[in-house]
Amino acid sequence: MHAKLRKAVFPVAGLGSRFLPVTKASPKEMLPIVDKPLIQYAVEEAAAAGITEMIFVTGRNKRAIEDHFDKAYELETELERKNKDVLLDMVRSVLPEGVRCIYIRQAEPLGLGHAVLCAQPVVGDDPFAVLLADDLIDAQPPALCRMAEIFAQTGSSLLGVEEVPKSQTQNYGIVTIDRMDDDTARIHSIVEKPKPADAPSNLGVIGRYVLTPRIFQLLTEVVPGAGGEIQLTDAISALLAHERVLAVRLPGRRYDCGSKIGYLQATFEYGLRHPETGDAFARYLKTRNA
Ligand code: G1P
Repeated sequence: MHAKLRKAVFPVAGLGSRFLPVTKASPKEMLPIVDKPLIQYAVEEAAAAGITEMIFVTGRNKRAIEDHFDKAYELETELERKNKDVLLDMVRSVLPEGVRCIYIRQAEPLGLGHAVLCAQPVVGDDPFAVLLADDLIDAQPPALCRMAEIFAQTGSSLLGVEEVPKSQTQNYGIVTIDRMDDDTARIHSIVEKPKPADAPSNLGVIGRYVLTPRIFQLLTEVVPGAGGEIQLTDAISALLAHERVLAVRLPGRRYDCGSKIGYLQATFEYGLRHPETGDAFARYLKTRNA
């Protein structure tokens, strides 16, 4: 029986420079898709996969994330007084039941690997998931559920993967694998953000990981890599020498909400099926295209 997956790390200290100026004073993870911030989608996905400890690695200007998952006394009292029960329920259920939040500060943005290492004192000797909130994955059941299932069967570290256009390999960790067996394959190698000409494949890592705690030791040993940052990918590459690591082709559709175009696509799709906006938005699009 493998240790249960109970902890998730959300690295949210990034500067969000691709979304300036909106991210000058507020976190990119709080950008809404219709009416829900990206980070809430990620937390809900983790909770659905059985995670009960949400560990946020935050930085400056990220107070809004803590406030979002905190109790909002004045707002709740006001909504209660006005008998706005639906809104009150919505506000109270932002944090899924049975879940607790822990915040750790990453003082300097030294890279994704460094952010994950900051979570070590809380993760300790347990396996854990990492979710990058700007990869929004629209899947039912949620994508991390499938990874939790595979982890329960194998106990192996897992990386969510998807084929990416060959011209975009420099935006992703790129893996080479054995043949896919169903949705899973053993990883042979991983490299961070290779240029298309150097990329060994076009299978990109997307922002969902399940890692064994051995990664922490390896993270202390890696030297700054791509972009001068401590890369999680480089520690995973070292992990391959010690453990089997599996690629998991994730279900559903991924939106890269770290890019403006991916963000707009997600807003469009979620807006079209949102109970409040769906019909009106579809009508608007019809008139616009007429
Ligand atoms: C990070 C990882 C990269 C991964 C990507 C997924 O890069 O370093 O390996 O493919 O997330 O979104 P970032 O997008 O933070 O530059």
